[in-house]
Amino acid sequence: MIHTTNLSKRFGSFTAVDGIGLDIARGEIFGFLGANGAGKTTTIRMLCGLLRPSGGTALVNGYDVSKQSEKVKLSLGYMSQKFSLYNDLKAIENLQFYAGIYGTPFPTALEYTMPLMRLFGLESSLHALTGSLPMGFKQRLSLVCALVHDPPLVFLDEPTSGVDPQARREFWQVINTLAQAGKTVIVSTHFMDEAEYCHRVIVMQQGREVAMGRPADLKTRYQVVNMQELFIKLVGDGYA
Ligand SMILES: Nc1ncnc2c1ncn2[C@@H]1O[C@H](COP(=O)(O)OP(=O)(O)O)[C@@H](O)[C@H]1O
Ligand SMILES: [Mg+2]
Repeated sequence: MIHTTNLSKRFGSFTAVDGIGLDIARGEIFGFLGANGAGKTTTIRMLCGLLRPSGGTALVNGYDVSKQSEKVKLSLGYMSQKFSLYNDLKAIENLQFYAGIYGTPFPTALEYTMPLMRLFGLESSLHALTGSLPMGFKQRLSLVCALVHDPPLVFLDEPTSGVDPQARREFWQVINTLAQAGKTVIVSTHFMDEAEYCHRVIVMQQGREVAMGRPADLKTRYQVVNMQELFIKLVGDGYA
């Protein structure tokens, strides 16, 4: 689903992403882990065709992000770090807005997303004003909005920031359900406990890969009992 070699991004003389190589398979839950400023969002935005790489190559869903960015954008879902929902629209109107952006007829979008909305308990809130919804609902609505065109892969950039622990756990169940339905899910987080829910992770620091693999394998390799400890070992305890 995703193949990159030496993917890099420079902003002037500053290197935000430095030589990242990835191979991500269909149906994988792949995590980007790292402290603020590690380069997670910049990498994700390059993979979504929103930011042009300065170096290296990236194929996403068979498309080259440098040469076919429009095709890349339409072939995936992207839930940005700041939920981009209109608070003064009803939930269902946000959905309609996103269907328009992705060029999916609204009835088709509803067909794709109704089962998800049922699963997420959003059905009864569809006619509520988005601004009046609890954070956990907005987060799930935001995810559904990224799926109106039924893409095979979806990028979630720190989807669990700002929601309580209970909502975080529930959201990870949602992510699991998506992967079981065959979607590839790329998710970034700075919560180390969440790394355990990913099939594989990359740990990033200052734009570089510090480690990559399955959580269980990484814990064995670095002789630590949990991902929090792994992080301290790899990145230092300056990491919060
Ligand atoms: N448009 C930009 N111009 C200059 N520097 C940027 C820009 N976007 C991100 N950066 C810098 O790149 C680094 C990585 O940022 P980012 O990818 O947002 O990290 P993360 O998502 O892991 O917190 C940070 O030091 C950030 O300040
Ligand atoms: Mg970020």
